[in-house]
Amino acid sequence: MRSRSLAATFRRRPKTVDGDNIVTAFDLNRGALAPVPDEVDLVELPSTGAIPRELAGTLLRNGPNPLRGRFDGNDVLSWWPEAAMLHAIAFADGRATRYRNRWARTRRWADVHAPAQAPHLPDTNPNVNVLLHAGELLALAEGGAPFAITPELDSLGSPLRHAGFGGGMTAHPKVDPLTGELIAFRADWRAPWLRYGVADAQGVQRVDIAVDVPAPSMMHDLAITATHSLLLDLNVGYDFSMLKQGHRMPLRWHDDRQARIGVIPRHGGDVRWFGITPCFIQHVVNAYDRDEACIVLDVVRYPWYLRLDANTGRFAENPVGVLWRYVIDTATGRVDEGPLADGGIEMPRINERQTGRDYRYLYAVEQPTNAEMRGVVRFDHERRVTTRYEVPTDDQNSEPVFVPRPGGIDEDDGWLLVMVYRAAKDTSDLVILDARAIQAGPVATVHLPRRVPAGFHGAWVPGAR
Ligand SMILES: [Fe+2]
Repeated sequence: MRSRSLAATFRRRPKTVDGDNIVTAFDLNRGALAPVPDEVDLVELPSTGAIPRELAGTLLRNGPNPLRGRFDGNDVLSWWPEAAMLHAIAFADGRATRYRNRWARTRRWADVHAPAQAPHLPDTNPNVNVLLHAGELLALAEGGAPFAITPELDSLGSPLRHAGFGGGMTAHPKVDPLTGELIAFRADWRAPWLRYGVADAQGVQRVDIAVDVPAPSMMHDLAITATHSLLLDLNVGYDFSMLKQGHRMPLRWHDDRQARIGVIPRHGGDVRWFGITPCFIQHVVNAYDRDEACIVLDVVRYPWYLRLDANTGRFAENPVGVLWRYVIDTATGRVDEGPLADGGIEMPRINERQTGRDYRYLYAVEQPTNAEMRGVVRFDHERRVTTRYEVPTDDQNSEPVFVPRPGGIDEDDGWLLVMVYRAAKDTSDLVILDARAIQAGPVATVHLPRRVPAGFHGAWVPGAR
């Protein structure tokens, strides 16, 4: 995410109460989010259980890691803008063959480690997500330019096949599994506030249009169906007066904003806006066309987010996100909405073969409280069954990345790869779960000798190396 809800995963100091607001102080340099000081290469990692031989490829993860190895402050803005560090764990022949971590070789990196190179390197900080599209592996920034890398984490620099997105795009573009198209947006606090774009299966941008919105708002994710794209214009927007009050990021909840879902034909056309109840949505689960006049959109929804107390100038503690469904009748304009489950979740993932299509299963991190990301949950929409992989108190885990079994047909035939931070040892395990039976515990666990910071998002790149 560039996910502010991840702020909740910080190891906490005692809370203090300031008026009606609960103010929480964090120590970014301890616990699951703490950075690592250097780059390492490890081979033949120890494991327990049986690593599936069909699991051949590399798990990549991305997140902020200060170039000098320590965060300077203890708030969200001391954390998420820091330099992109990528982590890679490679699998082949039933073994975890290699772990490697590298900072992206951007201008920011060179300013500290190789000043002579700095003018020649891209000025972006791709620390949010990783995406393989059109044969190009991209580290993605929150609105900034994508950055090409190899699965071995060598930096290639500005993308060659996705040059059309050099001006920046969301870290959560969607790829249509049938057409291979990439669908994205770019939100900015400077005009134009919102652009929408589509690249073909070769990465060439074919659609690039400005979308008219009344004011800039915080947009992190979008959804697609087989025919349309869905943009989220919600209640967290800009308030530049906050800069005078000492805030570095002028974003807050606005009661007076109308939350809306914008529905635009895949390749451009009029945007139709559908009003919804006030909310903020960090991450989309999936969307699909139920029929030609009905769209289903599943998300992780917050009833409010970044609520600022005007008297104290402090943010209230955010609630947890809940799995939520919108059913949009595009003929009548009616939107029905409501929760699909109780309990806090975040970082939802699906079998990406179902992106934009009707789907049955989703996987997510559990948030027992907004201070924890602990446990993995699987929802089966068809049977309305929820199963869990529980993670011990004090440990924390990353998002569950779904890896399909090669040649598998069933939607849930595959594995979930989850990084679990072991607080007692200050190390991380890579847990491999059978996606069909996560409650049974790991089929295998790879033991890393040191921490992999929780970071934001990751991806699986198939192919043994
Ligand atoms: Fe995200």
